[in-house]
Amino acid sequence: MRVQTWAVQPKGWPRGRKMRLVMVADLHAGGPNMDEGRVQQAVDLANAQGGDMILLMGDYRATHGWQTRRVPIEVAAPILAELRAPLGVHAVLGNHDWWDHIRKTGSRKGPTLTQKAFEAVGIPVLANQAVQVGGVWLLGLDSQSANQRRGGDPNDWVGKSDIKATLAQMTGDGPAVLLAHEPDIFADLAQHDPEARIVLTLSGHTHGGQVRFGPWAPVVPSQYGGRFAYGWVQEGGRDLVVSGGLGCSGMPVRFGVPPEITVVDLS
Ligand SMILES: [Fe+2]
Repeated sequence: MRVQTWAVQPKGWPRGRKMRLVMVADLHAGGPNMDEGRVQQAVDLANAQGGDMILLMGDYRATHGWQTRRVPIEVAAPILAELRAPLGVHAVLGNHDWWDHIRKTGSRKGPTLTQKAFEAVGIPVLANQAVQVGGVWLLGLDSQSANQRRGGDPNDWVGKSDIKATLAQMTGDGPAVLLAHEPDIFADLAQHDPEARIVLTLSGHTHGGQVRFGPWAPVVPSQYGGRFAYGWVQEGGRDLVVSGGLGCSGMPVRFGVPPEITVVDLS
């Protein structure tokens, strides 16, 4: 587990303002490689970064079939509740949070089990919601691939995301940071946000491909392939940072993308 830091100077960010954001992405709690002790290690490492804000980026549970130990969200949430930052801890949901919820409850409606477990320990979940924190709007988008694929088409997802409704809640001035578990929304921001209120997009989901050979990752869960697979991306005057995340999906195997806590230093 390591710390990856990006120093980003987004267009539209207030002059002279500095802010450190700490991202905890794709925890995927569950053995063999993300038991309770490892979750605690991630929490301690995130707390040690001195962030102004800690952002939980979705996919908190392992859902793969290779689990040697189950760590339900009701067990992981109280450990995550130990995260501390002056401007608070804020969470969004990932596709695996929805999949876990749908499988356990049989319902495709929220609030998800993750949201309930987080709110029970005092972590606010932004599911298509906007809040202003420290003069910055945090736009928390719900998962863009919440419902499982139908008919075997890998690009056929039914999302829970509503960017329009989320943007509409920005009722005052100030720059906005978009928290979107899946990075794919970044490709469409010019259309959704023509005035460029969103100065930075933060995502997870891809795990940097999870298995990566230098610049090449054979499997990236994005309709844009490797374009938003990992790290700091600049396109059309906008900035995106994709965390490589901490855990695993599919199989408990990572190669070439070490688990990371991601720090974004804004100035
Ligand atoms: Fe995901």
